[in-house]
Formats: sequence, structure tokens, C-alpha cells
Amino acid sequence: MEFSFHNPTGIEFGKGKIKEIANLIPKDNKVLVVYGGGSIKNNGAYEQVVEALKDHKWLEFGGVEVNPTVETMNKAVELVKAEGVDFILAVGGGSVIDGSKYLAAASLYDGDGWDFLDGSKEVEKALPLGVVLTLAATGSESNNLTVVSRKTTDEKRMYFSDHSYPRFAVLDPSFMGTLSDRQLGNGLVDAFVHISEQYLTKTNDLLVNDGYAETLYKGLVTLADRWDERRTLWWQENLMHICNQALNFQLANGVCQDWSTHIIGHELTAFYGLDHARSLAVILPHLIREMIDEKQDKLAQFGKNVFGIENDNEAVIQKMENIFESVGLPTKLNAYDIDDKVVENVHNAFKSHGYLEIGENGTVTLDKVEKIINRSI
Ligand code: NZQ
Ligand code: ZN
Repeated sequence: MEFSFHNPTGIEFGKGKIKEIANLIPKDNKVLVVYGGGSIKNNGAYEQVVEALKDHKWLEFGGVEVNPTVETMNKAVELVKAEGVDFILAVGGGSVIDGSKYLAAASLYDGDGWDFLDGSKEVEKALPLGVVLTLAATGSESNNLTVVSRKTTDEKRMYFSDHSYPRFAVLDPSFMGTLSDRQLGNGLVDAFVHISEQYLTKTNDLLVNDGYAETLYKGLVTLADRWDERRTLWWQENLMHICNQALNFQLANGVCQDWSTHIIGHELTAFYGLDHARSLAVILPHLIREMIDEKQDKLAQFGKNVFGIENDNEAVIQKMENIFESVGLPTKLNAYDIDDKVVENVHNAFKSHGYLEIGENGTVTLDKVEKIINRSI
């Protein structure tokens, strides 16, 4: 086993923790509070941020869309430069956080920030970023991944940079009370797939990773079983905790990974606007079926340790589909308004983005991707 791991994001978890930001952001910093379509004005977060920043100079930038775009975030870059902002505070879900990660880097870069997304340039520096999380799903609040779209070309791309880690993340589950069932179900499935992309690959002899991944999976299965309790603080705080742990990349230490479901899902969102988690729910089960020769041993371990199912991998996949559907996420593309160009669109996007041999063994090739999507239709 060999790995390097450094996650510098400080976590403040629990009700009322937002007051900590008064001390976590230096008093002489000028803060830009970034948010989305306005949900923070209904869930109490905005009010509490205003109170916590009463001794700071701050201004705001609202209107970051779901699946944030460079077109919108570049307007925030102009504001940061014009106003001399030196701290970004993202208040929202993965979209606001990712948009803010891009903003923090693009504000200190002279070229076109899309260079980070198309891989032509690495981030060399970024403004400090803090997060107040209002939606449990992506894990973006304490990781180094940024996912941003470009409207003009229907592209959704991502990049990793250690400059993107937030300095701190406030995780107060009481802000989740206003989330719709759709967002709660999305969060549960997104975390399930994050664990899977770091776990459902090859068997290994490590004692920590698989045990922790299986504990997180079991937590999600419990939350799905107890879906009728989703409006309780117990349910929501556990979802928030699991989602955070599922993608702070600790599970990835020392193991191989397979991000194919996310890579395909991002193209579906770029072309057809599916919610991120919904794009994953229609791909993962079919990807496992298509790649079963390579994944069967790990799937059997998962089935036995998480679902208590032995010697029946198809039953394991069906149980996974039942869980996704039980929290409101379809597992077939025909639930959405998808045209007959879906295979061609994803094929062409993969080709132009250079995704020719993905997966833990580099065997998810273009023809496999086509087969996976055809299974899902
Ligand atoms: O626009 P606002 O007002 O923020 O409303 C949002 C949005 O409409 C709303 N919402 C957030 N908190 C709420 C709330 N509504 C009521 N009460 C609250 N407390 O929920 C809607 C969805 O928000 P969004 O931020 O888009 O959701 P999510 O957190 O699922 O983020 C999705 C984005 O993150 C990316 C996805 O691709 C997508 O662009 N991802 C980022 C990752 C990362 N950086 O690590 C990993 C993920 O795999 C993912 O790709
Ligand atoms: Zn995800």
C-alpha cells in the first residue's frame, strides 16, 4: 500500500456552528458571499451569515445556477477584481461551492479560467475560500475537485487542484430542513455512487478502506430504509455526515478507482440537464452489468457485506436499483426527455475530451460506453 493524503479543510459540524466564521475569516479580509438562486434566504443561512460577518467588510454575488457556468462565474471574477475582495464565502450546495472554487482560482489568473477545465493550465494560486453547506450530496465542501460547465459549448468538465480545498466548511444540518425530497434523494444517491467509484473495482487485502466504505454504504441503506423519517434531524444530520465522508477522498487511499459513471453522467447533464445524481442512477447499475467480468468479485463482497446477499450478483444490482428508486431516482434513461442522439452525443463528447480508456483497468472504451447507455435506454 502506498499513498499521500492531506485534507486541510477544517470541519465545523452542528447546529449554530456558523458563528465560528467570525473567527475563521481574518477581520481585515474583504469577503464576497456567493450563493445560488435564493434558497439561503429561506433556510436561515443568509441571516446567520449576515450576523456572523457583522464585523467584516463584505459584499454578495447571487445567482449561481445549478451546474455552475463559467459565463456566470466570470461576472463574479470581475466583481472580485473591481472590489479588491480577498476571501470567498460560498453558501449553498455543490454548485455554489464549485462555482466559488473556480472563482477563487480564476480571480488570480490572467487568462481564460476555462483553461483549468480543459486541462491546458493548472491552478497555481487561489483566493482563500470558506463554505457554509446547505445541501448534503457532493462532498465538495472539503475536497479538491471542481466541476463547472460552459453553456456555449454544452460542456461540463472538472479539474483537481490542491488550491481548491476550502479553508473551512460549516456543516449545520438544520439548514437542510427546506430541502425538497428530490434533493434529499439526490444526495443519498450521489454519496452512494461516490463510495462505489472508489470501492467497486478490484478486491484488495487492505483492512481499512473496504471496512469504512461498507460502513458508509450501510448508513445510506439505513437512511433509504427509513426514508419516512427523512424530515427528522437524525436523518438529515446522518446524510450530511455520510455525504461528507464519501468524497473527501479518504476512501481512495491506496486503492484503484473507477470514475466512469461520473464521467458519463456529466455528459448526460451537459446535453440533457439531468440533475447530477439522476445522471448517475441511470448509469451505475448498467455499467456494473456491462463490466461484470472485471467487477464480479468486488460486487460479490459488497453484496455479502452490505446487503447480505450471496452468490447472486444480479440480485445485488437489482437491490441497488431498488434503493435508488425507493428514494425517487429512476434507473432508466427513458424516465427523461432524451432524444435518439444520446449515444452519438456522448460518443462524440468522449472523443473530443479524450476519454477513450477509462475505468480501473482502462477497459471502459467508447464501444463499452455505447453499450452501457444502450442498456439504460
Ligand atoms: O440555487 P440555490 O438557491 O442554492 O438552490 C439549490 C438548487 O436549486 C437548492 N438548495 C440548496 N440548499 C438548499 C436548497 N433548497 C432548499 N433548501 C436548502 N437548504 O438545491 C438545488 C440543487 O443545488 P446544487 O448545489 O446544484 O446541488 P448539489 O449539491 O447536488 O451540487 C451539484 C453540483 O455539484 C457537482 C455536480 O456535477 C453539480 O454541478 N459535483 C461536484 C463534486 C465535487 N466538487 O466534489 C462531486 C460531485 O460528484 C458532483 O459532480
Ligand atoms: Zn457525484
